[in-house]
Amino acid sequence: TAARPRITVIGTGYLGATHAAAMADLGFEVLGLDVVPEKVEMLARGEVPMYEPGLAKLLRQHVEGIEGASGRLRFTTSYEEVAEFGDVHFVCVNTPQKHGEYAADMSYVDTAFETLAPLLTRPALVVGKSTVPVGSADRLAALLAGLAPVGEDAELAWNPEFLREGFAVQDTLHPDRIVAGVRSERAERLLREVYAGPLAEGSPFVVTDFPTAELVKTAANSFLATKISFINAMAEVCEAADGDVVKLAEAIGHDDRIGRKFLRAGIGFGGGCLPKDLRAFMARAGELGADQALTFLREIDSINMRRRSHMVELTRDAVGGGLLGKRVAVLGASFKPDSDDVRDSPALNVAGQLHLQGAQVTVYDPKGMANARALFPTLGYAPSALEAVRAADVVLHLTEWREFRELDPEVLGEAVAQRHILDGRNTLDPALWRKAGWRFRALGRPTA
Ligand code: UDX
Repeated sequence: TAARPRITVIGTGYLGATHAAAMADLGFEVLGLDVVPEKVEMLARGEVPMYEPGLAKLLRQHVEGIEGASGRLRFTTSYEEVAEFGDVHFVCVNTPQKHGEYAADMSYVDTAFETLAPLLTRPALVVGKSTVPVGSADRLAALLAGLAPVGEDAELAWNPEFLREGFAVQDTLHPDRIVAGVRSERAERLLREVYAGPLAEGSPFVVTDFPTAELVKTAANSFLATKISFINAMAEVCEAADGDVVKLAEAIGHDDRIGRKFLRAGIGFGGGCLPKDLRAFMARAGELGADQALTFLREIDSINMRRRSHMVELTRDAVGGGLLGKRVAVLGASFKPDSDDVRDSPALNVAGQLHLQGAQVTVYDPKGMANARALFPTLGYAPSALEAVRAADVVLHLTEWREFRELDPEVLGEAVAQRHILDGRNTLDPALWRKAGWRFRALGRPTA
């Protein structure tokens, strides 16, 4: 029998670092590449550059040179080494939103392909995992065949990734589905071999062409964003009609066709994926002449952005109409709990708007403080929730960490100037806070 394919992973962000560790865990020899030497050095010590539950532990079980580790996982900055080592190369670099535009910035993906391809002197499968505008795979396949010394023997597959931050390890080892955009049986066979573990555990394997594989990712994220903005639109109506969006979501969610997940109303979605993927999708559809099909996504985006300004308005109302000099405590900075990621974080966006309007804002987050400070250095920061709320005129709950659900309203009540809290995530218990004498207001829920 042939030896197992050797795997490389290019780009070691959330996606790449997790993928590399997961592949080593599945028994493969893995070489991870990043162009940032500091990142490679950290990973080689078994340290993760971000907060992601379980990832550091998984890394340390496999990184070569760590005591007791399998040694199947190594890291490098050298493309030569990667090309020499690998049979299957996963490209996991990011595609951020272009500055001042909706479109995705493809430069990291393009550079990865342009650097790797000329070094491929033996048959290899290059697997794109980055989220890209539809049509990119066709273009990259041509580029690969053109630049690789082995020509057609350097083949492309497209294999989008659906992992959620905070659940990256679990989602990678036990994916809901594996999507394989392939052009040959060889490519399909290799991907099935690489994913044999999850497949054996019953993950569905969907084989398709390149454009469909690319679209599955953007369609899935658009659908999820649509669900969130739908329930947030209902929250707006509930507020106008004195209804309760939490009950409403629960009740419609009991219909299997609708489902209960992703119906949590609040200050909306953020992060490094949903917002930018939505915008890149609209931009790409425009280029393809299909922009009419996606005009509704513009509305999804604006409902989402309106949540943030609505939260700012509620805060202004809560402190009596003027924010100047008012003390606002913000609980939460990361874009969602169990993550230190603050990219396009609704919580920090609200905090930043309040600061610009003259409020004295103090932020606390269990894991996101360092990243928040780097992004918004002019905001105030406190080392705990209790410190953050000291002398506050109003408290905002903006990222739904478990720690915040477990706060004691009595204890916090002693520290604040006004017992007034706004729940931007609908996960605090109104009865509990009201019993402790707090004015409690939540988005899309009755005021008392
Ligand atoms: C998302 C997709 O879920 C994942 O499949 C894809 O690969 C990458 O993008 P992620 O960005 O990690 O993952 O976060 P997700 O859990 O989807 O949450 C996105 C945002 O939506 C967060 O800001 C979250 O707070 C918000 N959200 C989520 C809601 O406001 N309400 C909900 O009901 C669910």
